[in-house]
Amino acid sequence: MTDEGVILVTGGAGYVGSHCCIDLLNSGFKVVAIDNFFNAYKDPTGATNYPESLIRVQKLTGKSLEFHEVDLMNMDELRSVFKKYPKITCVIHFAALKAVGESFQKVLAYYSNNIHGACNLLSVMEEFKVFKLVFSSSATVYGVPEYLPLDEKHKTGNCTNPYGTTKDTVERMMIDLANSNSNWSITLLRYFNPAGAHPSGDIGEDPLGIPNNLMPYIAQVAIGRREKISVYGDDYKTPDGTGYRDYIHVMDLAAGHVKALQHILAPNREGVHIFNLGSGKGATVLEVIAAFSKASGKEIPYEIAGRRKGDVDSLYASCDKAEKELDWKCGLTLEDMCRDMWNWQTKNPRGFNPNA
Ligand code: WQD
Repeated sequence: MTDEGVILVTGGAGYVGSHCCIDLLNSGFKVVAIDNFFNAYKDPTGATNYPESLIRVQKLTGKSLEFHEVDLMNMDELRSVFKKYPKITCVIHFAALKAVGESFQKVLAYYSNNIHGACNLLSVMEEFKVFKLVFSSSATVYGVPEYLPLDEKHKTGNCTNPYGTTKDTVERMMIDLANSNSNWSITLLRYFNPAGAHPSGDIGEDPLGIPNNLMPYIAQVAIGRREKISVYGDDYKTPDGTGYRDYIHVMDLAAGHVKALQHILAPNREGVHIFNLGSGKGATVLEVIAAFSKASGKEIPYEIAGRRKGDVDSLYASCDKAEKELDWKCGLTLEDMCRDMWNWQTKNPRGFNPNA
Protein backbone atom coordinates (compact mmCIF):
# COMPACT_ATOMS: atom_id res chain seq x y z
CA MET A 1 0.00 0.00 0.00
CA THR A 2 1.44 3.36 -0.98
CA ASP A 3 1.39 6.04 1.71
CA GLU A 4 0.02 8.71 -0.58
CA GLY A 5 -3.17 8.78 1.42
CA VAL A 6 -6.56 8.76 -0.26
CA ILE A 7 -7.28 9.40 -3.94
CA LEU A 8 -10.79 10.80 -4.47
CA VAL A 9 -12.26 9.84 -7.85
CA THR A 10 -15.32 11.81 -8.99
CA GLY A 11 -17.49 10.05 -11.55
CA GLY A 12 -15.81 6.83 -10.45
CA ALA A 13 -18.75 4.66 -11.53
CA GLY A 14 -18.46 5.77 -15.14
CA TYR A 15 -16.67 4.27 -18.11
CA VAL A 16 -13.20 5.84 -17.81
CA GLY A 17 -13.49 6.34 -14.04
CA SER A 18 -14.19 2.67 -13.27
CA HIS A 19 -11.33 1.47 -15.50
CA CYS A 20 -9.05 4.01 -13.83
CA CYS A 21 -10.04 2.68 -10.39
CA ILE A 22 -8.76 -0.76 -11.42
CA ASP A 23 -5.29 0.59 -12.15
CA LEU A 24 -5.28 2.81 -9.06
CA LEU A 25 -6.15 -0.14 -6.79
CA ASN A 26 -3.65 -2.41 -8.54
CA SER A 27 -1.02 0.31 -8.03
CA GLY A 28 -1.68 0.26 -4.29
CA PHE A 29 -3.64 3.50 -3.91
CA LYS A 30 -6.49 3.85 -1.41
CA VAL A 31 -9.49 4.95 -3.49
CA VAL A 32 -12.72 6.71 -2.57
CA ALA A 33 -15.13 7.06 -5.47
CA ILE A 34 -18.17 9.31 -5.72
CA ASP A 35 -20.86 9.40 -8.38
CA ASN A 36 -24.41 10.71 -8.78
CA PHE A 37 -25.53 7.73 -10.91
CA PHE A 38 -26.53 10.03 -13.76
CA ASN A 39 -24.89 7.62 -16.18
CA ALA A 40 -24.26 4.53 -14.04
CA TYR A 41 -26.34 1.54 -12.94
CA LYS A 42 -26.91 0.06 -9.49
CA ASP A 43 -29.06 -2.86 -8.37
CA PRO A 44 -32.53 -1.30 -7.77
CA THR A 45 -33.40 -3.84 -5.04
CA GLY A 46 -31.31 -1.80 -2.59
CA ALA A 47 -29.04 -4.75 -1.88
CA THR A 48 -26.10 -2.34 -2.13
CA ASN A 49 -25.49 1.37 -2.71
CA TYR A 50 -22.45 0.54 -4.85
CA PRO A 51 -22.74 0.90 -8.63
CA GLU A 52 -22.45 -2.42 -10.48
CA SER A 53 -19.31 -1.23 -12.25
CA LEU A 54 -17.47 -0.72 -8.95
CA ILE A 55 -18.72 -3.99 -7.47
CA ARG A 56 -17.02 -5.65 -10.42
CA VAL A 57 -13.88 -3.48 -10.07
CA GLN A 58 -13.48 -4.82 -6.53
CA LYS A 59 -13.97 -8.41 -7.71
CA LEU A 60 -11.46 -7.97 -10.55
CA THR A 61 -8.76 -6.48 -8.31
CA GLY A 62 -9.52 -8.36 -5.10
CA LYS A 63 -9.24 -4.97 -3.40
CA SER A 64 -11.85 -2.75 -1.83
CA LEU A 65 -12.64 0.86 -2.47
CA GLU A 66 -15.11 3.14 -0.70
CA PHE A 67 -18.07 4.62 -2.56
CA HIS A 68 -20.52 7.40 -1.79
CA GLU A 69 -23.45 8.65 -3.87
CA VAL A 70 -22.67 12.35 -4.20
CA ASP A 71 -23.77 15.02 -6.65
CA LEU A 72 -21.21 17.78 -7.25
CA MET A 73 -24.09 20.24 -7.28
CA ASN A 74 -24.60 19.50 -3.57
CA MET A 75 -21.82 21.23 -1.64
CA ASP A 76 -22.82 19.69 1.70
CA GLU A 77 -22.64 16.17 0.30
CA LEU A 78 -19.24 17.04 -1.12
CA ARG A 79 -18.03 18.53 2.17
CA SER A 80 -19.14 15.43 4.06
CA VAL A 81 -16.78 13.32 1.93
CA PHE A 82 -13.82 15.61 2.60
CA LYS A 83 -14.66 15.59 6.33
CA LYS A 84 -14.83 11.78 6.34
CA TYR A 85 -11.51 11.36 4.56
CA PRO A 86 -9.05 13.93 5.97
CA LYS A 87 -6.21 12.19 4.12
CA ILE A 88 -7.39 12.99 0.58
CA THR A 89 -4.17 13.95 -1.16
CA CYS A 90 -5.38 14.23 -4.76
CA VAL A 91 -8.64 14.33 -6.69
CA ILE A 92 -9.14 12.80 -10.13
CA HIS A 93 -12.14 14.58 -11.62
CA PHE A 94 -14.08 12.56 -14.20
CA ALA A 95 -17.67 13.50 -13.34
CA ALA A 96 -19.18 15.35 -16.30
CA LEU A 97 -21.57 15.00 -19.22
CA LYS A 98 -19.58 14.06 -22.31
CA ALA A 99 -21.44 13.69 -25.58
CA VAL A 100 -20.80 16.14 -28.40
CA GLY A 101 -24.15 15.70 -30.13
CA GLU A 102 -26.21 15.64 -26.94
CA SER A 103 -24.59 18.85 -25.71
CA PHE A 104 -26.43 20.85 -28.39
CA GLN A 105 -29.77 19.66 -27.02
CA LYS A 106 -28.89 19.98 -23.31
CA VAL A 107 -26.81 23.16 -23.17
CA LEU A 108 -27.78 24.24 -19.64
CA ALA A 109 -27.34 20.71 -18.26
CA TYR A 110 -23.83 20.60 -19.77
CA TYR A 111 -22.87 24.07 -18.50
CA SER A 112 -24.33 23.45 -15.07
CA ASN A 113 -22.94 19.95 -14.51
CA ASN A 114 -19.58 20.45 -16.12
CA ILE A 115 -18.71 24.00 -15.11
CA HIS A 116 -20.71 24.58 -11.93
CA GLY A 117 -19.88 21.06 -10.76
CA ALA A 118 -16.16 21.66 -11.26
CA CYS A 119 -16.38 25.02 -9.53
CA ASN A 120 -18.06 23.43 -6.51
CA LEU A 121 -15.39 20.74 -6.37
CA LEU A 122 -12.54 23.26 -6.52
CA SER A 123 -14.16 25.39 -3.81
CA VAL A 124 -14.50 22.47 -1.41
CA MET A 125 -10.97 21.29 -2.21
CA GLU A 126 -9.68 24.78 -1.33
CA GLU A 127 -11.75 24.75 1.89
CA PHE A 128 -10.10 21.46 2.92
CA LYS A 129 -6.67 22.46 1.61
CA VAL A 130 -6.51 19.70 -0.98
CA PHE A 131 -4.52 21.30 -3.79
CA LYS A 132 -3.69 18.44 -6.16
CA LEU A 133 -6.03 17.66 -9.05
CA VAL A 134 -6.00 15.57 -12.23
CA PHE A 135 -8.74 16.73 -14.61
CA SER A 136 -10.39 14.63 -17.32
CA SER A 137 -10.38 17.05 -20.24
CA SER A 138 -10.88 16.47 -23.94
CA ALA A 139 -9.31 17.00 -27.35
CA THR A 140 -12.42 18.95 -28.27
CA VAL A 141 -10.92 21.96 -26.49
CA TYR A 142 -8.69 22.38 -29.57
CA GLY A 143 -11.69 23.33 -31.74
CA VAL A 144 -11.05 23.04 -35.48
CA PRO A 145 -7.40 21.95 -35.76
CA GLU A 146 -5.04 24.46 -37.40
CA TYR A 147 -2.44 21.70 -37.75
CA LEU A 148 -2.16 17.96 -37.10
CA PRO A 149 -1.13 16.03 -35.14
CA LEU A 150 -2.38 18.22 -32.31
CA ASP A 151 0.18 19.04 -29.64
CA GLU A 152 -0.45 20.81 -26.32
CA LYS A 153 0.74 24.14 -27.76
CA HIS A 154 -2.18 24.24 -30.21
CA LYS A 155 -4.60 27.01 -29.35
CA THR A 156 -7.77 26.09 -27.52
CA GLY A 157 -11.23 27.62 -27.50
CA ASN A 158 -13.51 28.30 -30.47
CA CYS A 159 -14.94 24.86 -29.72
CA THR A 160 -17.43 23.43 -32.21
CA ASN A 161 -19.88 22.20 -29.56
CA PRO A 162 -21.14 23.12 -26.08
CA TYR A 163 -19.49 20.04 -24.55
CA GLY A 164 -16.08 21.18 -25.77
CA THR A 165 -16.73 24.72 -24.58
CA THR A 166 -17.53 23.47 -21.07
CA LYS A 167 -14.27 21.49 -20.95
CA ASP A 168 -12.32 24.50 -22.25
CA THR A 169 -13.98 26.79 -19.70
CA VAL A 170 -13.16 24.46 -16.83
CA GLU A 171 -9.54 24.29 -18.04
CA ARG A 172 -9.36 28.09 -18.04
CA MET A 173 -10.91 28.25 -14.55
CA MET A 174 -8.27 25.80 -13.29
CA ILE A 175 -5.43 27.72 -14.93
CA ASP A 176 -6.64 31.02 -13.45
CA LEU A 177 -6.98 29.36 -10.03
CA ALA A 178 -3.45 27.95 -10.14
CA ASN A 179 -2.13 31.37 -11.20
CA SER A 180 -3.93 32.96 -8.25
CA ASN A 181 -2.70 30.51 -5.62
CA SER A 182 0.66 28.79 -5.93
CA ASN A 183 -0.44 25.93 -3.67
CA TRP A 184 -2.33 24.35 -6.56
CA SER A 185 -0.90 21.49 -8.67
CA ILE A 186 -3.26 20.74 -11.53
CA THR A 187 -2.86 18.32 -14.44
CA LEU A 188 -5.15 18.59 -17.46
CA LEU A 189 -5.42 15.34 -19.44
CA ARG A 190 -6.83 15.92 -22.93
CA TYR A 191 -8.33 12.61 -24.07
CA PHE A 192 -8.87 11.78 -27.67
CA ASN A 193 -11.40 8.99 -28.24
CA PRO A 194 -11.60 6.41 -25.44
CA ALA A 195 -12.77 2.98 -26.60
CA GLY A 196 -12.58 -0.67 -25.67
CA ALA A 197 -13.04 -2.37 -22.30
CA HIS A 198 -11.15 -4.21 -19.58
CA PRO A 199 -9.85 -7.51 -21.08
CA SER A 200 -11.99 -9.51 -18.64
CA GLY A 201 -15.13 -8.18 -20.33
CA ASP A 202 -16.63 -7.62 -16.87
CA ILE A 203 -16.67 -3.83 -17.14
CA GLY A 204 -17.01 -1.60 -20.17
CA GLU A 205 -18.80 1.34 -21.72
CA ASP A 206 -22.47 1.20 -20.85
CA PRO A 207 -24.21 4.35 -22.08
CA LEU A 208 -27.76 4.78 -20.78
CA GLY A 209 -30.18 5.03 -23.70
CA ILE A 210 -29.05 5.47 -27.30
CA PRO A 211 -25.23 5.63 -27.46
CA ASN A 212 -23.87 8.99 -28.64
CA ASN A 213 -20.40 7.65 -29.34
CA LEU A 214 -19.36 5.54 -32.30
CA MET A 215 -17.84 2.42 -30.74
CA PRO A 216 -20.62 1.57 -28.27
CA TYR A 217 -23.19 2.13 -30.99
CA ILE A 218 -21.37 -0.25 -33.34
CA ALA A 219 -21.14 -2.82 -30.52
CA GLN A 220 -24.90 -2.64 -29.99
CA VAL A 221 -25.48 -3.14 -33.73
CA ALA A 222 -23.15 -6.16 -33.65
CA ILE A 223 -25.00 -7.70 -30.69
CA GLY A 224 -28.37 -7.05 -32.37
CA ARG A 225 -29.68 -4.31 -30.06
CA ARG A 226 -29.59 -1.69 -32.88
CA GLU A 227 -30.45 -2.17 -36.53
CA LYS A 228 -27.63 -0.22 -38.20
CA ILE A 229 -25.15 2.59 -37.67
CA SER A 230 -25.64 6.00 -39.25
CA VAL A 231 -22.33 7.26 -40.60
CA TYR A 232 -22.43 11.00 -40.02
CA GLY A 233 -21.06 12.31 -43.27
CA ASP A 234 -18.79 10.89 -45.98
CA ASP A 235 -17.60 14.17 -47.50
CA TYR A 236 -14.88 15.08 -44.99
CA LYS A 237 -11.29 15.63 -46.07
CA THR A 238 -10.20 12.17 -44.84
CA PRO A 239 -8.98 9.00 -46.59
CA ASP A 240 -12.52 7.71 -47.22
CA GLY A 241 -14.54 10.85 -46.49
CA THR A 242 -15.75 9.73 -43.04
CA GLY A 243 -14.68 11.24 -39.72
CA TYR A 244 -11.09 10.53 -38.68
CA ARG A 245 -10.38 10.17 -34.93
CA ASP A 246 -7.61 9.02 -32.62
CA TYR A 247 -9.00 6.07 -30.63
CA ILE A 248 -7.27 5.17 -27.40
CA HIS A 249 -7.85 1.96 -25.43
CA VAL A 250 -9.48 2.75 -22.10
CA MET A 251 -6.84 0.64 -20.33
CA ASP A 252 -4.08 2.76 -21.89
CA LEU A 253 -6.02 5.78 -20.70
CA ALA A 254 -6.26 4.34 -17.18
CA ALA A 255 -2.51 3.74 -17.14
CA GLY A 256 -2.01 7.34 -18.21
CA HIS A 257 -3.95 8.52 -15.17
CA VAL A 258 -1.80 6.53 -12.79
CA LYS A 259 1.30 8.02 -14.38
CA ALA A 260 -0.20 11.52 -14.14
CA LEU A 261 -1.09 10.90 -10.49
CA GLN A 262 2.40 9.69 -9.62
CA HIS A 263 3.78 12.75 -11.43
CA ILE A 264 1.63 15.25 -9.55
CA LEU A 265 2.20 13.58 -6.16
CA ALA A 266 5.93 14.16 -6.52
CA PRO A 267 7.37 17.31 -4.88
CA ASN A 268 7.47 20.68 -6.65
CA ARG A 269 4.65 20.03 -9.07
CA GLU A 270 2.84 23.32 -8.36
CA GLY A 271 1.24 24.99 -11.36
CA VAL A 272 -0.55 23.51 -14.39
CA HIS A 273 0.61 20.54 -16.46
CA ILE A 274 -1.14 19.69 -19.73
CA PHE A 275 -0.91 16.37 -21.60
CA ASN A 276 -2.60 14.80 -24.63
CA LEU A 277 -3.62 11.18 -24.11
CA GLY A 278 -4.13 9.57 -27.49
CA SER A 279 -2.59 6.89 -29.67
CA GLY A 280 -1.07 9.29 -32.19
CA LYS A 281 -2.77 7.30 -34.93
CA GLY A 282 -6.25 7.75 -36.42
CA ALA A 283 -8.99 5.74 -38.07
CA THR A 284 -12.03 6.70 -40.12
CA VAL A 285 -15.56 5.69 -39.19
CA LEU A 286 -15.60 3.09 -41.97
CA GLU A 287 -12.26 1.70 -40.81
CA VAL A 288 -13.64 1.33 -37.27
CA ILE A 289 -16.73 -0.43 -38.61
CA ALA A 290 -14.53 -2.82 -40.62
CA ALA A 291 -12.24 -3.47 -37.63
CA PHE A 292 -15.21 -4.20 -35.37
CA SER A 293 -16.78 -6.48 -37.96
CA LYS A 294 -13.52 -8.43 -38.14
CA ALA A 295 -13.18 -8.65 -34.34
CA SER A 296 -16.79 -9.75 -33.85
CA GLY A 297 -17.27 -11.82 -36.98
CA LYS A 298 -20.51 -9.89 -37.51
CA GLU A 299 -21.73 -7.83 -40.44
CA ILE A 300 -22.27 -4.23 -39.28
CA PRO A 301 -25.02 -2.67 -41.42
CA TYR A 302 -24.65 1.08 -41.90
CA GLU A 303 -26.08 3.94 -43.90
CA ILE A 304 -24.44 7.21 -44.87
CA ALA A 305 -26.28 10.06 -43.14
CA GLY A 306 -25.73 13.83 -42.97
CA ARG A 307 -22.91 15.38 -41.00
CA ARG A 308 -23.42 15.73 -37.22
CA LYS A 309 -23.37 19.33 -35.94
CA GLY A 310 -20.09 20.10 -34.17
CA ASP A 311 -18.01 17.39 -35.79
CA VAL A 312 -14.63 18.16 -37.35
CA ASP A 313 -12.94 16.27 -40.21
CA SER A 314 -9.92 14.92 -38.32
CA LEU A 315 -8.49 14.86 -34.82
CA TYR A 316 -5.38 12.97 -33.79
CA ALA A 317 -2.73 13.53 -31.17
CA SER A 318 0.93 14.14 -30.70
CA CYS A 319 1.66 12.43 -27.37
CA ASP A 320 5.40 13.15 -27.24
CA LYS A 321 4.99 15.30 -24.11
CA ALA A 322 3.25 12.55 -22.10
CA GLU A 323 5.79 10.04 -23.30
CA LYS A 324 8.69 12.25 -22.20
CA GLU A 325 7.35 13.73 -18.95
CA LEU A 326 5.01 10.97 -17.74
CA ASP A 327 6.89 8.01 -19.17
CA TRP A 328 3.59 6.94 -20.76
CA LYS A 329 2.57 5.83 -24.22
CA CYS A 330 -0.21 3.80 -25.75
CA GLY A 331 0.44 0.10 -26.21
CA LEU A 332 -2.91 -1.21 -27.44
CA THR A 333 -4.34 -1.06 -30.96
CA LEU A 334 -7.72 -0.47 -32.60
CA GLU A 335 -7.98 -4.25 -33.03
CA ASP A 336 -7.44 -4.67 -29.25
CA MET A 337 -10.16 -2.08 -28.60
CA CYS A 338 -12.64 -3.86 -30.88
CA ARG A 339 -11.78 -7.29 -29.44
CA ASP A 340 -12.17 -6.12 -25.85
CA MET A 341 -15.32 -4.08 -26.57
CA TRP A 342 -16.89 -7.12 -28.27
CA ASN A 343 -15.93 -9.37 -25.33
CA TRP A 344 -17.62 -6.91 -22.93
CA GLN A 345 -20.71 -6.63 -25.14
CA THR A 346 -21.15 -10.39 -25.61
CA LYS A 347 -20.74 -11.05 -21.88
CA ASN A 348 -23.11 -8.15 -21.07
CA PRO A 349 -25.53 -7.80 -24.01
CA ARG A 350 -27.70 -5.34 -22.02
CA GLY A 351 -24.76 -3.65 -20.27
CA PHE A 352 -24.70 -3.64 -16.48
CA ASN A 353 -28.50 -3.59 -16.24
CA PRO A 354 -29.82 -7.01 -17.31
CA ASN A 355 -33.23 -5.44 -17.89
CA ALA A 356 -32.02 -2.50 -20.00
C1 WQD B 1 -16.48 9.60 -33.51
C2 WQD B 1 -16.71 9.65 -35.01
C3 WQD B 1 -18.65 10.91 -35.65
C4 WQD B 1 -21.55 8.14 -33.83
C5 WQD B 1 -16.36 12.88 -28.37
C6 WQD B 1 -15.66 13.78 -27.39
C7 WQD B 1 -14.45 13.11 -26.82
C8 WQD B 1 -14.85 11.78 -26.24
C9 WQD B 1 -15.55 10.93 -27.28
C10 WQD B 1 -15.11 12.02 -23.89
C11 WQD B 1 -17.14 11.04 -35.52
C12 WQD B 1 -18.81 9.44 -36.02
C13 WQD B 1 -20.37 8.76 -34.25
C14 WQD B 1 -22.43 7.59 -34.81
C15 WQD B 1 -20.92 8.30 -36.53
N1 WQD B 1 -15.65 11.99 -25.10
N2 WQD B 1 -20.08 8.83 -35.57
N3 WQD B 1 -22.09 7.69 -36.13
O1 WQD B 1 -17.41 13.17 -31.20
O2 WQD B 1 -15.11 12.28 -31.90
O3 WQD B 1 -15.55 12.69 -29.50
O4 WQD B 1 -16.68 11.66 -27.75
O5 WQD B 1 -14.16 11.49 -23.46
O6 WQD B 1 -13.93 13.92 -25.79
O7 WQD B 1 -15.23 14.93 -28.05
O8 WQD B 1 -16.68 10.81 -30.63
O9 WQD B 1 -17.63 8.57 -30.93
O10 WQD B 1 -19.20 10.57 -31.00
O11 WQD B 1 -17.63 10.18 -32.90
O12 WQD B 1 -20.64 8.38 -37.74
O13 WQD B 1 -23.52 7.02 -34.50
O14 WQD B 1 -17.77 8.76 -35.34
O15 WQD B 1 -19.18 11.76 -36.65
O16 WQD B 1 -16.58 11.24 -36.81
P1 WQD B 1 -16.22 12.31 -30.91
P2 WQD B 1 -17.86 10.00 -31.32
